[in-house]
Amino acid sequence: MSAPILSRFANKVVIVTGGGSGIGQAVVRRLASEGAIVTAVDVNETGLVEGAKQVEQIAVAGGRSSFVVGSVSNEDSVKKIVQDVVDREGRLDALINVAGILRSNNTLDTSLEQFMEPIHVNLVGTFLFCREAMPHLLKTKGNIVNTASTSAQYGHPYMAGYAASKGGVESMTKALAWEYIRQGVRINAVAPGGVSTPLTAAQEGRMGTLDRSLFQRLTRPDFQFGMPDQVASVFAMLASEDGGFMTGEIVKVDGGVHN
Ligand SMILES: NC(=O)c1ccc[n+]([C@@H]2O[C@H](COP(=O)([O-])OP(=O)(O)OC[C@H]3O[C@@H](n4cnc5c(N)ncnc54)[C@H](O)[C@@H]3O)[C@@H](O)[C@H]2O)c1
Repeated sequence: MSAPILSRFANKVVIVTGGGSGIGQAVVRRLASEGAIVTAVDVNETGLVEGAKQVEQIAVAGGRSSFVVGSVSNEDSVKKIVQDVVDREGRLDALINVAGILRSNNTLDTSLEQFMEPIHVNLVGTFLFCREAMPHLLKTKGNIVNTASTSAQYGHPYMAGYAASKGGVESMTKALAWEYIRQGVRINAVAPGGVSTPLTAAQEGRMGTLDRSLFQRLTRPDFQFGMPDQVASVFAMLASEDGGFMTGEIVKVDGGVHN
């Protein structure tokens, strides 16, 4: 990533979940490079350590990052993580929920437990962080950016639980946006599609028995996967004052493949 000339997050305190890999790691880099004080949360400690090293190399204008190993779907852990950040930094200006898992399989082979897995991480985890962060965001008139997916609107096959979790994130984002619109807290979501990360690489490995031709609508021959930095820049826009007139929006970032 070339160094941004912007410093939209100088002295802003931000929590980024899923900061140990892919899009979340890119969001941490982007925000810290614009001056943010970022706490990255993930279950992947190795990725968090790697991300912190990347930030040390590029952070300017007071930007810095630290990390916490924890699961977004553990209620007690989420409460503690948010409170610890506020105790340490004195405030919270933005919450960026990126942590997520993708599970794909034939629906007939999917147990209830497997169906619920992405719901617990992607939807419940996002809800828990939104709820715990909100009292602090109300004080700073801060904002939230959630992560949806093009799977919510465009019928990606073999992902019933994942698509449902992301549809839930979209609906919850809109509901929260209206709930808090008068109190000055903005809530938006980014809906990525086809970004090159460990999540999509693992999906390729799991294709096994699934009908590949059904995926053609997601990967047109003329379509290339995007890079995490190309999505992180949109998260940064929404979380900054550049997105100050946006709330309740689901911003699709997919290189045009679903147009
Ligand atoms: N890559 C894409 O094409 C794409 C498309 C649409 C949506 N998304 C969404 O973007 C987000 C980031 O995905 P990515 O592609 O960067 O994937 P990724 O696998 O590279 O990163 C996801 C991160 O979330 C973390 N995570 C998983 N479960 C967690 C938990 N319980 N608590 C804390 N952290 C947890 C993982 O450890 C990982 O570091 C996800 O919400 C994903 O659904 C990605």
